[in-house]
This record gives sequence, C-alpha cells and structure tokens, in this order.
Amino acid sequence: MRLVLALAGMLAAATAAAQSESPPPRDAPYFPTPQTVVDRMLELARVGPDDYVIDLGSGDGRIVITAAKRFGARGLGIEIEPSLVSQANWTARRDGVAERARFVEQDLFQTDLRPATVLTLYLFRELNIKLAPRILEQLRPGARVVSHDWDLGDWTPDHQETVPAPDKAVGISRESKVFLWIVPARVQGEWRVETTLPGAPAGRLALQQRYQFLAGTLDGAALQAGKASGANVAFTVAGAGPFAGRYEGTASGDSIAGRVRRADGSAGTWRAVR
Ligand SMILES: C[S@@+](CC[C@H](N)C(=O)[O-])C[C@H]1O[C@@H](n2cnc3c(N)ncnc32)[C@H](O)[C@@H]1O
Repeated sequence: MRLVLALAGMLAAATAAAQSESPPPRDAPYFPTPQTVVDRMLELARVGPDDYVIDLGSGDGRIVITAAKRFGARGLGIEIEPSLVSQANWTARRDGVAERARFVEQDLFQTDLRPATVLTLYLFRELNIKLAPRILEQLRPGARVVSHDWDLGDWTPDHQETVPAPDKAVGISRESKVFLWIVPARVQGEWRVETTLPGAPAGRLALQQRYQFLAGTLDGAALQAGKASGANVAFTVAGAGPFAGRYEGTASGDSIAGRVRRADGSAGTWRAVR
C-alpha cells in the first residue's frame, strides 16, 4: 500500500512539474501564409537589407526566412510552439540564413517590439486589436506593419489589397487580404510655429491625432487633409489668411520642419517646436 501511495505521489509531482513547465496556450492555431502572399506582404512593406523583421507567431518561419533570403533583411520569429521553433531554425540553417533569421520560443504578448522596422502578423483580429496600442507605443515612426487577412480594428490601413492564394490552407476562398500600416510619428499637442511666409512670422499649432490622421488649428485656422506618414507630417490651411498654404515637414523628437507652399505658387519654410 505504501508503495502504491509513493508511486501515486511521484506521478502527481511529475504531472504538476510538467504542467508548470508547459508553455502558455496558443492564442491562434498554426496555418502557414501561402508563399505568394508572404512575397507580396514583404514587397508591400518594401523590405530591404536595412530592415529588421519581427513575425509574431512565426510558425514554420517562412516570413522571416523569405525576408532574409529574398530581401537581404534580418529578422526574428516569435513562436510559442517549440517544435515549430526548431523547424524554423533548422530551415534557416538549411537555407544558409541562420545568421540573419532567428526563431525563439516566446509568448508574443511578452515580446519587445522596439527593434522591428517591419512587423508581420497572421493572427486573429482580436489579437491584432489587443496588440495595436503596443505597436503604436513601441515601433518607431516609419516602421511598417503588414497583416495577413485581419485588420487592426479602427486603425485604418494605409493600403490594402487582395492577393490570389491558390494553396491557402483555411477557408473556402482561394485569396487573401493583405493590410499595410505605416507607424505615424506622435505629434499630438501644442506647437509654436515660425514660418518665412510674409505676414505670418509666428503662430500656435494645435494638433489632434487619431492614428495617422491629423486635425487641429494653426493660429485659429482649421487644418485640412492632415496626415502623419511615418515621420512625414502634412496638412493644409485653407482660405486667404496669413498662414494659408500646404505644409509638409519631417518630425524629429520635439520639432517638425519643412516647406510651405501657397496657392499662388510662392513658398517658404516652417518650423514647429513643442
Ligand atoms: C496562423 S499561424 C501564422 C504562422 C506564420 N506567421 C505564417 O504566417 O505562416 C499563427 C502562429 O502563431 C503561434 N502562436 C499562437 N499564440 C501565440 C503566442 N501567444 N505567442 C507566440 N506564438 C503564438 C501559433 O503557434 C502559430 O504558429
């Protein structure tokens, strides 16, 4: 009897240990992105040798491996399933890109996204929506986010298209949607503006930002067609007031600087500081 109890105790301890070591459950199942769609995602993001691609939920590693092999990028795949991590690292070695394409076993919600210049996703819409605030907070202006099939909730994509996917493993449609976002500079707030426009030496710029879209006022005049595309900031001040014109500039830290062009063709420079 004592032996039976001892064996039962050992079994319970072993089960508890195995449970405490088992990885957290998957938030999305494994379905590979068809290669045609992988290629298009990376083309749309304009991936090149200077890029660092992070694929959240990297499966067999095809996105990061293609980014390294075909586009010369470096990258990291984050995957919760250990066998897929081993498979992806094995394929990267086989294809001669192990130096540039790495895969680690990790929960994607614990991943530091800051090194990414390109972030790729093939998850679920709810997961994308949960990730969106971290993407906006951690990725640098100009970083690109590409998602297969699912959008990012109320963050309007900068581009979307449908791609033929004859070998798609899920659903009945043999095509995929691909979405692209460019992470905007965060320019919300109050700025003091100086321009070289005659009669408009200095004014107050108030910017309201919703993702990449900008609204607000410059010296009381409403802004139109305001957008932040990466670090590029642009807006129009309509009408005949002293600040009227199309403003285009580059945001860098606490300043934005660029050119302003009036409807009559005359131009000047402008600079805003917080
Ligand atoms: C639909 S597959 C996409 C695979 C690959 N990105 C592709 O496009 O071919 C989603 C992957 O996310 C992984 N995954 C699910 N939840 C995860 C989590 N919390 N952390 C890391 N990976 C996760 C799954 O194991 C699966 O391999």
